[in-house]
Amino acid sequence: MIVVTGATGSIGRALVAGLRGHDVLAVVRRPAPDLGCAYEPGDLERPESVGRLLSRGDRLFLNSSLWPGFAAAHRAVIDLAARAGVAQVVTVSVRGARPGALLGGGMHGEVDAHLRASGVPYAVLQPTGFMQNLPGEVRDGVMHGSYGPGAVNYIDARDVAAVAAALLTRPAGPGADHVLTGPESLSHARIAERVTAVTGCPVRYVDLPVARMAAHLERQGLPAPAAADLAALIAETGDGRWATRTPAVEQITGRPPRTLDAFLAEHRAAFTG
Ligand SMILES: NC(=O)c1ccc[n+]([C@@H]2O[C@H](COP(=O)([O-])OP(=O)(O)OC[C@H]3O[C@@H](n4cnc5c(N)ncnc54)[C@H](OP(=O)(O)O)[C@@H]3O)[C@@H](O)[C@H]2O)c1
Repeated sequence: MIVVTGATGSIGRALVAGLRGHDVLAVVRRPAPDLGCAYEPGDLERPESVGRLLSRGDRLFLNSSLWPGFAAAHRAVIDLAARAGVAQVVTVSVRGARPGALLGGGMHGEVDAHLRASGVPYAVLQPTGFMQNLPGEVRDGVMHGSYGPGAVNYIDARDVAAVAAALLTRPAGPGADHVLTGPESLSHARIAERVTAVTGCPVRYVDLPVARMAAHLERQGLPAPAAADLAALIAETGDGRWATRTPAVEQITGRPPRTLDAFLAEHRAAFTG
């Protein structure tokens, strides 16, 4: 059986759809009959509620959004998976994750290290930023950031799901990390031009110094320390570390990753609405 956590999320829904025909169990916090697969209640904040659903030979997709207890909860579920004799854990991390890194990168770094040492066959997926974030970054026709002129890569979250589906349905093999990227890397000024051209919704990119970006994020409701860290992370991301592309999506799924233009054309309403 393939046990899918985070099944109601951006990646999870696409994954469940991609696993049609396989024996899938979604772990959900609320009933989700629209998923179209079997589901059971489970909450990663109570790791044993997920552990009780795992049996020897199962494959586990371990994913959720981030919260302060994320690393401890995910580590505990990995331990329960190892104890149950799970045949493979596929987890979603982030590109550049390492213990001590800012925000999610640090939490994922801890979980990734724990999984690699767990003895369970694993795949750590390390994607760049999701194209699905882009509509939420545009307010009143402006996209703010501290990326500078550097190119940044975005991937469609559905390609992360496609990679996970492929890895969960083939022999598990040895543990491996997979850095997942979209097909092109662009500056945010170019991304804003693409949004304007494809969606017809005029968008411009405004680059802010890190301190002003932190203040901007605070005005949007982020607590001051998180706003400062996120602004610093945005500036780091723009220094070129997320510009290189990898062939991993195509190698694993057999087809190239979705383009930004294809994503924008499909999600026009999210920008214009
Ligand atoms: N966004 C990006 O640009 C980006 C880039 C690289 C990596 N990532 C990583 O991608 C992951 C997020 O994936 P996503 O975009 O598919 O997430 P998402 O759309 O935010 O969905 C999160 C999923 O996790 C579930 N969840 C949250 N807390 C849970 C808990 N305590 N117990 C059980 N389920 C829980 C949610 O369930 P409910 O429906 O019940 O809320 C939902 O199904 C994160 O690890 C993030 O760091 C994101």
